[in-house]
Amino acid sequence: MNKIRFCYKNTLKFLSQNEIDSMNFKTTEVAKILENGSGLGNDFLGWIDLPEKYSLEEINKIKSISEKIKSNSEILIVIGIGGSYLGARAGIEFLSHTFKHILPKEKKEGIDIIFAGQNISGTYLKDLLEILEKKEYSINIISKSGTTTEPALAFRVLKNHLEKKYGKNEAKNRIFATTDSSKGALKQLSLKEGYETFDIPDNVGGRFTVLTPVGLLPMAVAGINISELLLGAAYAKEHYNKEYSQNDVYKYAAIRTLLHQKGKEIELLANYEPKFHYFAEWWKQLFGESEGKDGKGIFPASVDYSTDLHSLGQLVQDGKRHLFETVLSLENPSKDILVESEKENLDNLNYLVGKGFNYINKKAKEATVLAHVHGGVPNLEFFISDASAYSLGQLFYFFEKACAISAYLSNVNPFDQPGVEAYKINMCALLDKPGYEKEKEFLINEDII
Ligand code: PA5
Repeated sequence: MNKIRFCYKNTLKFLSQNEIDSMNFKTTEVAKILENGSGLGNDFLGWIDLPEKYSLEEINKIKSISEKIKSNSEILIVIGIGGSYLGARAGIEFLSHTFKHILPKEKKEGIDIIFAGQNISGTYLKDLLEILEKKEYSINIISKSGTTTEPALAFRVLKNHLEKKYGKNEAKNRIFATTDSSKGALKQLSLKEGYETFDIPDNVGGRFTVLTPVGLLPMAVAGINISELLLGAAYAKEHYNKEYSQNDVYKYAAIRTLLHQKGKEIELLANYEPKFHYFAEWWKQLFGESEGKDGKGIFPASVDYSTDLHSLGQLVQDGKRHLFETVLSLENPSKDILVESEKENLDNLNYLVGKGFNYINKKAKEATVLAHVHGGVPNLEFFISDASAYSLGQLFYFFEKACAISAYLSNVNPFDQPGVEAYKINMCALLDKPGYEKEKEFLINEDII
């Protein structure tokens, strides 16, 4: 069942239908290259078949471990960064109660998830340790390489805390490692300590792992129906194989490429529901790390409206005309509030009596789209029918495929991230990590430190 409608009519002031149609050949060609595995980065195409080929045994293992965690913990600490963090957070924030952390236990679906290892803030970790003193908890450490500094550091601290709290034996029953099936420090540590592990397939790169245990275990523990999520993704896999004129993935990839060619350097992913905030964070990493290389790439940015209409709205309306907007619209939010009448009408809001917040929000969106298009900002829009696991699965898959095709349209390898190494090398040198002496010397000679 299709849950996503794509509309590009608000780009037609900036692009002609002919230009869009003329992308048919090239887009279909790169889509074929993606499907037949003959393109750049073809070692990392495992994500394409994940929704259909997921092993039932693996799903059952995820579900049974998630039941175990829910039965003995109030919190699951999920440690990871980048692709080992953002997908799970996007899914959990999109599908959970907005204030889940302070809901009474009996009203919660699943248990609370708290993320760590996505920064190196001492304050963040110290505050977390303080919370954990009086809580029953477990840890899911996620790192494909098993060597990333941020999560490894957080894990060292949290593992010690867990071992002090429960003793080494019980702690080991509360640690779950999601990592490479054979390589990396985390795999070795897990084998030595006897942690339960989940494998990240070799042929799925970090930011494409949301439909592997990387995303699925934390989401299952948060009470999300991961089978529905995979069904939505499986629908997307089937649906977005159609020919260009009926294929929204292809058209989205083609249109953003055309807009980029016309000088639109920034794509702003806009939403009107706070639930989408972390989805946008996931999307930014997906497109930023996949397309931003070889001096190329659209800069992926995001805005939460109407909040940001009061901060960035001026710039979007009137600033440099180098951006386009892609709006995520939730068609049927699950809850609403009606504006009530007030006798004195001191706030002058009685003209809205009987109207729902969702209706007013929708009008705010329509007004903004009109204003921005009029102000020279092309607008693309996705209408997502509901905030369900199924819709989210379709959405994750939609953007993964669109991202791969967009990158191929610019002749870029979407599946590597060589640029991420630069800061890591400098950081290791600055921290005097053994093996980085030459890099340190270079920084000193260049007068950088
Ligand atoms: O997309 C990617 O490959 C990266 O963003 C990684 O997910 C991120 O750097 C974390 O890597 P790892 O899972 O190896 O700790």
